[in-house]
Amino acid sequence: MIINPDKPGKEFWDIFVVLLTIYTTIEVPLRIVFGFKLTGTFYVLEILISAAFSIDIVLNFFTAIRKKQTLIVDHAVIKKHYLRSWFAIDFLAAIPFFLIFSGPLAEAGHLFRVLRILQLNRLFKLSKVSYILKSRLQHHMINPGIFRLLFFVFFISLVAHWVACGWILLGGVPDAKNNLEMYSDALYWTITTLSTVGYGDVVPHTIVQKYYAIAIMLVGVGSYGYVIGNVASFLANLDIVKAEYKKKLEQITAFLNYRSIPVQLRNRVTEYYEHIWDSRLGHNEELVLHDLPEPLKTDIALHMRSDLITKVPFFDMADEQLLREIVLLLKPRVYIPDSYIIKKGKSGDCMFIISAGQVHIVSEKTDEVYATLGEGSFFGEMSLVLNMPRTASVKTSDYCDVYVLEKSDFEAMRKKFPSFNKHVKKITKERLHNFNIRKRKQKKKDKKQTG
Ligand code: CMP
Repeated sequence: MIINPDKPGKEFWDIFVVLLTIYTTIEVPLRIVFGFKLTGTFYVLEILISAAFSIDIVLNFFTAIRKKQTLIVDHAVIKKHYLRSWFAIDFLAAIPFFLIFSGPLAEAGHLFRVLRILQLNRLFKLSKVSYILKSRLQHHMINPGIFRLLFFVFFISLVAHWVACGWILLGGVPDAKNNLEMYSDALYWTITTLSTVGYGDVVPHTIVQKYYAIAIMLVGVGSYGYVIGNVASFLANLDIVKAEYKKKLEQITAFLNYRSIPVQLRNRVTEYYEHIWDSRLGHNEELVLHDLPEPLKTDIALHMRSDLITKVPFFDMADEQLLREIVLLLKPRVYIPDSYIIKKGKSGDCMFIISAGQVHIVSEKTDEVYATLGEGSFFGEMSLVLNMPRTASVKTSDYCDVYVLEKSDFEAMRKKFPSFNKHVKKITKERLHNFNIRKRKQKKKDKKQTG
């Protein structure tokens, strides 16, 4: 009997209720100020709205509630929650006040004409529209900034409509020929006043209209500033990561100009930042992940490193626990073309896994290339495993994105996961064999030279 709020049927129903609510918030004020009688299609529509709002109440009593990641399906809890939250609003909005005012009583007298505003009860439902849309759009991963802007434009338009209706209620424009002209003039007056343009071609005629105009002008000044501020902040935050990147690039370009750095060198710097941006390494991951709880942090790290995991043959077959632990320890780093990542003879403090690009294992002295490693290969492990200085130099051929694993983390992983240790040792053994051959050759060469 309990409805899942995430099912398409319920989603469709919620959107339907939202559309009916929007319709009523536009139509009811117009009907009240122009004193339209409810007849024909409009009458049927009004009955449909009351019926839909009543069905909505019933459905809400049976719709599961989402609290964080869990779906609460206990009917008693759902009932209590609904009665305490939206029930009063839904109930008020569903009362069919229009039935009183569409019958013969509508003409009964002044009091009844004033009581027509009771029909504004439908507007209560509007408070739920933002809530429904927000939860629905969040579910579909719509940018919250875009949602805020769209909702804001919609809300401002609705307020302008209500203000225009209020203006008509207070007398409107005396020389308007028909309702359409009256409404258009009132809306025109509202927008020019709210936007602080104020042409002055549509002006208040009565004292009450004048005070109304003063109030709207005061609100207009505030809301105008609010609109401009919101739009500016929306544009700035639309893609905050890109905005930050652009700002950094501008700061660096200004600095390079100021220090009269040659164009060629400047281009290399720009190229480096472009590479960082393209390889999605332009954002400080630590900054974002820092506040997250461990399991969430691990899931995000696993997702971010998923391409690396598929590239490294060992990781592809490794057990889940090893991956969950190692992804949090890997730190991304970028190297520019023709730069040394490792220099022979230095002590080793970390190892590297190639995520993109290529490196050459070289002799710095003779420029001889012993091996070339690509995506998914690792290097820098020999000095850590064998506890000796770096056995060769490692040089990039192009831009190279690597993940660094610190010595202490590497040792901890080897201790904890014997399969990882075995794999590393196997590769180290092969490389050590090559290293020993190289060493022997070098010794022979040196002997020849001295001999
Ligand atoms: P390390 O000695 O710490 O630093 C240099 C790295 O180059 C070394 O670890 C290995 O990872 C790597 N390396 C050395 N020789 C070879 C080889 N013949 N083939 C592939 N990689 C090598």
